[in-house]
Amino acid sequence: MFSRQAPPRMEEVTIDTVAGRAVALVGHSFELQNIELRMEFGDGGVAVLGDAGQLQQVLLALLVNAGDAMPQGGQVVISTERAGQELVMRVRDNGPGVAEELRDRIFEPFFSTKEDGQRTGLGLAIALGIVEQHGGHIELVSQVGQGSEFIIHLPVAAAEMAQARGEKQ
Ligand SMILES: Nc1ncnc2c1ncn2[C@@H]1O[C@H](COP(=O)(O)OP(=O)(O)O)[C@@H](O)[C@H]1O
Ligand SMILES: [Mg+2]
Repeated sequence: MFSRQAPPRMEEVTIDTVAGRAVALVGHSFELQNIELRMEFGDGGVAVLGDAGQLQQVLLALLVNAGDAMPQGGQVVISTERAGQELVMRVRDNGPGVAEELRDRIFEPFFSTKEDGQRTGLGLAIALGIVEQHGGHIELVSQVGQGSEFIIHLPVAAAEMAQARGEKQ
């Protein structure tokens, strides 16, 4: 499923627009759930080469997970910034965090700790696949009991490599 995922269709994307759309999709449920969402869009509209729909899906998956992690409410911060040749996007929550021994496994397809049958365990696997096809990676920083931060690194120039890979398939 992941290897067959459509290659990204690269276009110039304003990442804050993409992030804004992902935020809009969770806005209502976050409100109902008492989750306070803060947006910190550093450079006022970083443009990169990327697939807008896929990058939106990545951020949405991270936001939904943050919401799932905090059924009693909490805080989520989504931020974007340009750091040298990288675009860095962060989704941080102050939920329960991810236990050390699970930190690699949560990116595996179908791995889920949720038992309500509403989640597939595919969110992070798909998100990682998309980010890697954009030539980037996802870093997880988490302290159990304090929260989780998923950090997406997209090498701005390497986005062009992903396009080249897509053409070869
Ligand atoms: N923000 C988070 N806080 C705590 N645990 C998380 C967070 N995001 C992901 N996880 C863990 O990673 C697992 C896999 O996430 P995901 O691939 O999106 O699958 P799903 O949400 O369907 O369970 C989750 O079941 C959960 O245990
Ligand atoms: Mg999920």
